[in-house]
Amino acid sequence: MDVESFRRYAHELVDWMADYAANVENLPVMSGVAPGETLSRLDSAPPEQGEPFERIMADFESVIMPGMTHWQSPNYFAYFNANNSFPSILAEMLTATLGAQCMSWVTSPAATELEERVMEWLREMIGLPREFTGVIQDSASTATLCALLTAREKASGWAINRHGFCKEQFTVYCSREAHSSIEKDVRIAGIGSHRLRRIALNEDFAMDPAALEAAVNADIDEGYKPLAVVAALGTTGSTAIDPLDAIAAVCRRHGLWLHVDAAYAGTALILPSMRWMLKGIEAVDSFVFNPHKWMFTNFDCSAYFVRDPNALVNTFTLLPEYLKTSVDGSVTNYRDWGIQLGRRFRALKLWFVIREYGVQGLREAVANHIRWAGEVADDIRREADFELMAPTPLATVCFRYHPQGVDDAEKLDQINQRLMDALNTSGKLFLTHTKLNGKMTLRLVVGQTRQERRHVVAAWEIIKRTARGSAHS
Ligand SMILES: Cc1ncc(COP(=O)(O)O)c(C=O)c1O
Repeated sequence: MDVESFRRYAHELVDWMADYAANVENLPVMSGVAPGETLSRLDSAPPEQGEPFERIMADFESVIMPGMTHWQSPNYFAYFNANNSFPSILAEMLTATLGAQCMSWVTSPAATELEERVMEWLREMIGLPREFTGVIQDSASTATLCALLTAREKASGWAINRHGFCKEQFTVYCSREAHSSIEKDVRIAGIGSHRLRRIALNEDFAMDPAALEAAVNADIDEGYKPLAVVAALGTTGSTAIDPLDAIAAVCRRHGLWLHVDAAYAGTALILPSMRWMLKGIEAVDSFVFNPHKWMFTNFDCSAYFVRDPNALVNTFTLLPEYLKTSVDGSVTNYRDWGIQLGRRFRALKLWFVIREYGVQGLREAVANHIRWAGEVADDIRREADFELMAPTPLATVCFRYHPQGVDDAEKLDQINQRLMDALNTSGKLFLTHTKLNGKMTLRLVVGQTRQERRHVVAAWEIIKRTARGSAHS
């Protein structure tokens, strides 16, 4: 492809992108293809000769698009969002065009220094203390792994990096509702799933600090070495907020690393009214939140903040001759701040988003999402045949349909499973579920970039109508 063809196709694609954004709300949100259907339509061998771009694009439309679930539809209410936004998409186009691999300062000084600056902006925007330093990671899973590895290395005097595990019997703590990435990270860090203690919950599905204290003491008595606590601000199931200050007190008493997983809820901290979640932050060692969830920034972009960047760098740094540069002593080399060596230029999209929205614009969008979710929760409280299954501190509503006279637990689970399936196959909206106290619970996650109040109102009406129409037969 030559430059002029690239120019022509790129213009055509921008039209495609704008049309997609304009029409996405009319598309079935969840893809309806069957397992293997897309695979069966893909050539089993790569083409020997290059193909015209028109044909590739035609196949993209006819083979790939039907198998896509539309995360950027305003009728998307599933999991947590992975929002993009126009400024973020435009920045991604530039990032792809520049194609820079930003592992070291010299490999693109502007990428490093922009990352330093936007992470300072983000720190201020969400009200983290100035002692925190930020770095962009690909995901919260990776950031939490970095936290556990740093905690592990610090606690072992950087010995495990050199010798592997010898005798350390570390234990890690999180709530029963903490994200599965914590267990995955504990496995990867060599600590082992069986040494991850799942702490009991209070009635709001948040970690019970007294149970944490008891678990830590029991482990000490049995000869284990408690290492770290991962507290969640916004659990995935119900967006429960673990009480940071009480957890911090336990960590301080026992010298434990405290990592905060605010993957979803961190964005809400741009609202000063939500900063109550940060009470206890003085004792936090590391903190992650995902602008790629709720802050309108294309996946992947995870903001990881640490109190002691030297500990992070000491955990990861390795400097073979071919990576040495003449400025190593005086610049930030993000290759040493995490697992990957090669790094995408992720700061650019964050910079574009923050500048195009402005902090005020971001606050308004997030406040609207929280308000609209609150309206749905209020309506559920008024409806006799729906039940709120958890508090709604943010923009995720946990509920179930509970028709009067039906109280059998299994039957209620089936009714709600059928309701969710009916909603999702209708294509009109997409939502997902969890189990809370063992009960099938539907989650309505408000907060898609192009969502307006009317989308939330319509979704809630469809849910009620569908539930009352058919789901409980
Ligand atoms: C609370 C929480 N932590 C961690 C994660 C994992 O995020 P990532 O996909 O960035 O690894 C999620 C994903 O939804 C989450 O909800």
